[in-house]
Amino acid sequence: MTRVEELLSQIKKLKTEKNAIILGHNYMEYSVQLVSDFTGDSYDLAVKAMKTNANIILFAGVYFMAEQASALNPDKKVLSPDPSAGCTLSDALDVKTLQEYKERYPNAPVVLYINTSIYAKALADYIVTSSTAVNVVQKLNAQTILFGPDANLANYVQQKVPNKKIIKVPPNGRCIVHANYTKQLVELARKKYPNALLMAHPEAPLEILESADFVGSTNQMIQFSKENKNEEFIVATEIGMINALKIKNPSKKFYPLVTTEACACARCPYMNIITLEKVKRSLEEEVYEVKVPEDIAERAKMAFENTMKLLE
Ligand code: 13P
Ligand code: SF4
Repeated sequence: MTRVEELLSQIKKLKTEKNAIILGHNYMEYSVQLVSDFTGDSYDLAVKAMKTNANIILFAGVYFMAEQASALNPDKKVLSPDPSAGCTLSDALDVKTLQEYKERYPNAPVVLYINTSIYAKALADYIVTSSTAVNVVQKLNAQTILFGPDANLANYVQQKVPNKKIIKVPPNGRCIVHANYTKQLVELARKKYPNALLMAHPEAPLEILESADFVGSTNQMIQFSKENKNEEFIVATEIGMINALKIKNPSKKFYPLVTTEACACARCPYMNIITLEKVKRSLEEEVYEVKVPEDIAERAKMAFENTMKLLE
């Protein structure tokens, strides 16, 4: 038995013994995706966290995702295999800055991307994901909207909803991975794979989104590549996504826009922190429990539920 097989079998046993589930983000390494009960995008996994009967939720993803699961499930034990798995977007918005913007624009609803700390979420009116941001902003009964922290996603939403004014909070929050994508990289990939369609995540710059054949969240990319007759796809998002696409769609070909050989920036350094070894230790020792203060959790939950109601 290899070390990976051994870990997979130990983790499966621990899950049964402890009535635990593993929620794995689509960017997780291949073996972590294999041992996850559900894999998905941020929205899908947040909803799964709300519906489970398990006693323990282990969130194999970055910290803000585990924090969100904990806020939505205060009675459950939520574990993060490594709480140092941050996110440059989440780090881009602090509570003080958000409060200042709220004071300057007291009538503007605050729409925050899920990639934020739970403390920022507690000050928001709506929590959106890459799959819901455009819809939510379209449906809001307001002309001026505070939107953060991803400037690229804000630009995309502004393009799709031109009749409303999006104010970016902060002006220049970026994902460390998607910020590296350029038109030149797209041209090279298109030349190399002339039959492939380009799928891009809305965290990428607008010039990439404008030249893409499809723009969507990680789950929406899986869906698009399944339903589309094309056999080949260039993927403009974090490279772990290639695992998710191959697992869900084994007969098709997926090429990352940037490979790890070309640039270490292809892989999210934070997602990369979560390994199978850490998942096992986390379940075994029930570390690291993610706890959110009750009042903060309630306010963040309200913002998440506001979004769900708006989208019903
Ligand atoms: P998704 O919600 O599309 O999975 O994206 C989350 C994320 O962190 C993208 O970098
Ligand atoms: Fe954050 Fe970017 Fe990593 Fe997603 S890929 S977790 S947005 S740093």
